[in-house]
Amino acid sequence: MVCRQHNDVMTGERMDQALDERQQAELRARGVARILISEEEIQDEIRAMAAELDVEYGTDQPLMIGVLTGAVAFMADLMKAMTIPLEIDFMAISSYGAATKSSGVVRILKDLNADIEGRRLIIVEDIVDSGLTLQYLLEMLKARAPRDIRVVALLKKDKPDAIAVQVDRVGFRIPDEFVVGYGLDYAGRYRNLPYVAVLDPSEYAGK
Ligand code: IMP
Repeated sequence: MVCRQHNDVMTGERMDQALDERQQAELRARGVARILISEEEIQDEIRAMAAELDVEYGTDQPLMIGVLTGAVAFMADLMKAMTIPLEIDFMAISSYGAATKSSGVVRILKDLNADIEGRRLIIVEDIVDSGLTLQYLLEMLKARAPRDIRVVALLKKDKPDAIAVQVDRVGFRIPDEFVVGYGLDYAGRYRNLPYVAVLDPSEYAGK
């Protein structure tokens, strides 16, 4: 009997295509239309930001303030990439709830534990959209007489009608689209995506 071996070795091109199709299927299954900023791009940028902050603060022991809940992923990676002594604290401000547009309503849900008088503060924000949240936060923190305040945001939307608010360092400027992942949610979901993505419109259709 003659045994003919079936040639099932994939060419590089076919493997790439198969991989691409698998990734696309995974994204669809997670409700994601497309990845805007990859995990690798985020981590590279965070390393650069951390190095700058290390140089800026040295032994001053800054207090990093994370704005809950969206900044959690960014803050965790940023502080681990920094090598200087620092402290952390969190604030929670009311956000958009399940809607994809700002309600314009800002209120404190959780205040800081630390006394910030005379301290050097680094505010860590996930995204600056209208700028409303940040403007409110800055006014409130300045009234408590810190030594200085620096605002570091992972994302900033290109929005012509946004408030001109202090943002000292932006990781990525993005188009005015609703994004999720890497801490950012839609209706409480998608925060655990390791990248920043645009949702498939069917995920919020009719809401
Ligand atoms: P702002 O007050 O309009 O600048 O909005 C700030 C907050 O709104 C952010 O800290 C986020 O929690 C939320 N936000 C704004 N844009 C988006 C988005 O595209 N996806 C998810 N959350 C967003």
